[in-house]
Amino acid sequence: MILSALILSQGSGPVLATGPFLHFPYVQIGRPTQVATELTLMWQAPIEPGKWEVTYQSSQGVRHNLAEFNQVDTTSPGFLNFRTELTSLTPGKPFKYEVWKNGNKVFESTAKAPVKSDQKWRLVSFGDCGRGTKEQAMISYQASKVNGDAVLLTGDIVYDLGRVSEYETKFWNYYNGSATSPERGSQMMRSVPFIPVLGNHDMASNDLTKYPDGLAYFYFYQVPLNGPKLASNSPLTPNARGAGLSNFLAAAGENYPQTANYSFDYGNAHFVVLDSNPNVNWTTPELIEWLKKDLSEADPKKWRIVTYHHPEFQSSKVHATDRWMRVLSDLYVKYKVDLVLNGHVHNYQRSKPIELSFKPFLSTALNANDWTVDKAFNGTTVTSTEGVIRIVTGGGGAPLYNPELEPTPDKWLPFTEKYHVRHSFSQLDFDGDKLKFTQIDLEGKTLDSFLLMRKPKN
Ligand SMILES: [Fe+2]
Repeated sequence: MILSALILSQGSGPVLATGPFLHFPYVQIGRPTQVATELTLMWQAPIEPGKWEVTYQSSQGVRHNLAEFNQVDTTSPGFLNFRTELTSLTPGKPFKYEVWKNGNKVFESTAKAPVKSDQKWRLVSFGDCGRGTKEQAMISYQASKVNGDAVLLTGDIVYDLGRVSEYETKFWNYYNGSATSPERGSQMMRSVPFIPVLGNHDMASNDLTKYPDGLAYFYFYQVPLNGPKLASNSPLTPNARGAGLSNFLAAAGENYPQTANYSFDYGNAHFVVLDSNPNVNWTTPELIEWLKKDLSEADPKKWRIVTYHHPEFQSSKVHATDRWMRVLSDLYVKYKVDLVLNGHVHNYQRSKPIELSFKPFLSTALNANDWTVDKAFNGTTVTSTEGVIRIVTGGGGAPLYNPELEPTPDKWLPFTEKYHVRHSFSQLDFDGDKLKFTQIDLEGKTLDSFLLMRKPKN
């Protein structure tokens, strides 16, 4: 049930404090599938009476919102989950906002409004991050320094099980803590939206009888609800039943299971976020039809980026057989997808542009490694391609995989172009039909970069 905070009078002066919050306020892309002039502001607070209000700078002057909230009782302690929509923002501009409780200003920050389709913008992306390591803090710090407009998390957001209690120690303090430093991480989340992808660890607490605070993914993010409506999407185990299940369903509300798959436009790009966990069978006709419809109806003037956790083209030995998403490869070529972003494998890998050469639904195709690639593309003087480049950006903080392969390209699979075993993040600079991609390590050094031109659509 959604409740509204009561109107409050702003009597006393500003008092900045951390006390009222469990987690500081942070912005999200919210429900619109065209992310343009609004964001959603969220935060979590202890279950106690209070009057909450938000003021912010819109394009039409200062606005006052009442915060909505619902109560999450499945965790110990439970919490109030607050949200409010910040509308009529000036595209691409920073704006100030304040959160007030019981007449006291308890938080203030600046956030970045989403860009318009004719504006340049920067996406930051990394996955496999919430592990509580010093490298996680360093990546968060370095990523904050490049001043992106949004952050895409390519799954395995919080280890090991994606529980609310694990977010407490391995997530909030790294991306929305009390300081910005290589040791402490950053405060990015209060200023730019973090966009989630469901990884295998994020759903590993799907036995809600065993883990009452499981599946935190479905509490903490506000994204569009336009994904396929299929019961087979559910990550829940049969043992998730009883009061724990009913409490979870009530607290997650519309988010469950809809936000495992969704799509949206941001700036000049269309993004499709897929749940690649093995409980979802992407040969299911309803799922394929949803994806086809989404891609075919995407604005032909925008980039098409598909993202999910499990990479189907990568050279590490760890997770080498987790390549079931190959079943969708022909659709990416057919619908002129420009780039695929994955995580799961804890390093950085860039594939050559992979072309369609045969029906990927054949089991022989799924297991082969001799897919044809566009050999002309070099990312500097030749920047257009018909094939689709896959990026593994899984160096967000968790321990790295297979470093012994880095100096031996002859042992990489034939479609792999770059392979770096360093903690790192991706920076994507969109400028009209041109994209500059840069992979940056935990000390701010460039590991890889290339230019890519948007494919002509239709
Ligand atoms: Fe994973």
